[in-house]
Amino acid sequence: MTGSSDLRTMRMPLNHGGGHIPALGFGTLIPDPAVTITATRDALEAGFRHFDCAERYLNEREVGEALQAGLAAGGLAREDIFVTTKLWNCNHRPERVEAAFEASLERLRINYLDLYLIHTPFAFQPGDEHDPRDEHGNVLYDDGVALPDTWKAMEALVDQGRCRAIGLSDIGLDQLLPIYESARIKPAVVQVEAHPYLPETELLEFCKAKGIVLLAFAPLGHGIRPGPIDDPVTKAVAARIGKTPAQVLLAWAVQRGTALLTTPKSAARARENFNISSLPEDAFEEINRIPTRQRLNQVVKTGIPGFIPRGK
Ligand SMILES: NC(=O)c1ccc[n+]([C@@H]2O[C@H](COP(=O)([O-])OP(=O)(O)OC[C@H]3O[C@@H](n4cnc5c(N)ncnc54)[C@H](OP(=O)(O)O)[C@@H]3O)[C@@H](O)[C@H]2O)c1
Repeated sequence: MTGSSDLRTMRMPLNHGGGHIPALGFGTLIPDPAVTITATRDALEAGFRHFDCAERYLNEREVGEALQAGLAAGGLAREDIFVTTKLWNCNHRPERVEAAFEASLERLRINYLDLYLIHTPFAFQPGDEHDPRDEHGNVLYDDGVALPDTWKAMEALVDQGRCRAIGLSDIGLDQLLPIYESARIKPAVVQVEAHPYLPETELLEFCKAKGIVLLAFAPLGHGIRPGPIDDPVTKAVAARIGKTPAQVLLAWAVQRGTALLTTPKSAARARENFNISSLPEDAFEEINRIPTRQRLNQVVKTGIPGFIPRGK
């Protein structure tokens, strides 16, 4: 980690010369286009410098518009922010990867990417339909492409200098291991659901040992109630140290060595979620000892996103 002991500005090194990723990231999985713009702008103003996007979120244009306006208004340069986007399941065939990447860059109005992720390890029928289904409503998977082939196309983007780092998302250790072993350019980041109810400890230990950053999504539990944000332990710790439950969970995530993505949708929440500081050791251990185990997003089992409306 670099940047200081200030959790708000903590940055983590990425392998293969990929620079540094700010630990505290803003996620753009926001279905409403107008809210995408205001929330992205508010996050930038609050201090977030890491923005997580995806072709599948169908709002890269809005994120790009908000970032461009926000950078200009704040006197910031492109290099001051870290931008990630993700290759969707219908673009796993190697010959589709570069075009999907370029289309994302065009929508985001940027000319390089800090991080490009394979959104899920599941390949869907190749084409422009994000959610291909048969007449019974079953997803049409593509057995004509294997993950290592998609990975090679991702490596080529790094070779061309078009993106600084590559990684995977919604992947378990069992699928990550063979990619890690065979990759010429090792994954720099693995993005998965992680919070006190799903600590992913084994995956985190593997990532730490190999210099991979584990990037936790749903650190507040996706807003699902009941969930880790209203767990009695979280609430008690928050009351004791004078922080909010959200601030406790976000601090816990950074302190245990993950980067994270959170999605505040108002200016007040953006400031709240950015304004985190280290938990005292006993509070950190109390959160570690929460016994509940619950996965909130099933995308890792099917490649079907849990919180995105159907349709292209
Ligand atoms: N790779 C994947 O498959 C995948 C899957 C899911 C997400 N992601 C990424 O991860 C990002 C974060 O995931 P997430 O949206 O689940 O994050 P999250 O921050 O855990 O959950 C967001 C929810 O928490 C609520 N919230 C935010 N700040 C709060 C606060 N201070 N106090 C109380 N509630 C608060 C929001 O409520 P309101 O809506 O009321 O503001 C919203 O319902 C996404 O935007 C996306 O970039 C990736």
